[in-house]
Amino acid sequence: MRRPFIAGNWKMNLVVRDAIRLAEEVCECVGSIPDRDVAICPTFVSISAVAAALNDSPIRVGGQDCSQWNDGAYTGDVSATILRSAGAKYVILGHSERRHVMGESDAVVHAKMGKARAAGLKPILCVGETLDERQAGNTLAVVERQLRKGLEGLTHEDLAETTVAYEPVWAIGTGEVATPEQAQEVHAAIRTWLKELGGPIGEDIRIQYGGSVKPDNVGGLAAMPDIDGALVGGAALTADSFSTIVGFGAG
Ligand code: PGA
Repeated sequence: MRRPFIAGNWKMNLVVRDAIRLAEEVCECVGSIPDRDVAICPTFVSISAVAAALNDSPIRVGGQDCSQWNDGAYTGDVSATILRSAGAKYVILGHSERRHVMGESDAVVHAKMGKARAAGLKPILCVGETLDERQAGNTLAVVERQLRKGLEGLTHEDLAETTVAYEPVWAIGTGEVATPEQAQEVHAAIRTWLKELGGPIGEDIRIQYGGSVKPDNVGGLAAMPDIDGALVGGAALTADSFSTIVGFGAG
């Protein structure tokens, strides 16, 4: 049985004071929900403060990205080692906003995966097709390419610490969620590739769905056999909606 894993991606929102406040609220609402892993991913600037606010709780902190390079002369970048030292345990990599707005290639995402693992961070590797790619019938080909390149060269031990997030680009921040069946079709394909790459470990790797997950649609998604949690954007910005998503089906 895979333990559900729900992560909140706060994106470029919340000044430090508001990030601390939301972390404390999430802690209160979510702290006691059993049998699931929960992480919140604030901006780099708020990582330390949020990690301190969550101190004794089981909720973990993650970064939204890390550098493809080691520490050194890379102005503006944050290395995986620095992220870890600030209190992060997870890091989101290959998010579609980084791929499509900042122009990150599969090769860059792959380099970041290596740095994250070397620093002991648990990566959440995002994959997903654009609307054009879906309409052209290329969904599985795109997702397979992103997945294989992202995971290339990882040991079985690294794979065991990795989460995959399937996030169809057309569903992110649009309110247009994939149907549970559409999502499950892709998750099942990802599961097959993960088993090819990792053998039995592939069965244990969690695959989150992301893209307009809300309290009123999470139930149908969570009922699917290969959907093991969610990567939540907009609905992670209030403790109420995030805790409802986290708590779905618990207890
Ligand atoms: P959304 O974002 O829930 O606001 O669609 C999800 C994500 O980008 O991870």
